[in-house]
Amino acid sequence: MKDVTVHDKVFTPFIVKERIQQRISELAAEINKEYAGKNPLMIGILNGSFIFAADLFRELTIEAEISFIKLASYKGTSSTGHVVTAIGMEEDLHGRHIVIVEDIIDTGTTLHSFLPEIHHRQPASVKIATFLTKPAALKHDITAAYTAFEIDNKFVVGYGLDYNGLGRNLPDLYILKE
Ligand code: XMP
Ligand code: MG
Repeated sequence: MKDVTVHDKVFTPFIVKERIQQRISELAAEINKEYAGKNPLMIGILNGSFIFAADLFRELTIEAEISFIKLASYKGTSSTGHVVTAIGMEEDLHGRHIVIVEDIIDTGTTLHSFLPEIHHRQPASVKIATFLTKPAALKHDITAAYTAFEIDNKFVVGYGLDYNGLGRNLPDLYILKE
């Protein structure tokens, strides 16, 4: 497999699509087991999670629903100075089993700011499924119940993840070349 250039940077193949699909099947098997009869509501965070969410959802054999939201970040007046709010969340979450679907947990700031908004709507349970985590970059107490891959603290593109808008359509995952 060849390196790819996205904008001004060169990325090298990192995780091939066959391995990605294999891990997704494993995660889906766990979700099928844990959520059988619970009709979980998967909530995909746009844009990055759309491919992971689609592949994961297709592997579910149980009754399940999916919806997508966008997060808007702005400087709040709170002490953290960072507030994230959901756009497009129309479902009633009350009493539902929620699985948040993310592309990557980096510092964890995004989910740390956003999870209270989910809990405020009184769901029965909330868990996170993420395609990637960068444990070395994590700054908040965020734990994903389902993680496809833990990776080093380096920038990646492909499989839904972008570098300034490009690279999302690469079927494999690529990592920034040193
Ligand atoms: P936090 O730090 O809030 O960040 O967990 C999560 C968001 O940061 C973006 N991000 C990346 N996007 N390659 C990407 O294409 C990466 O290596 C990367 N690291 C962080 C991403 O939008 C994610 O939702
Ligand atoms: Mg994202």
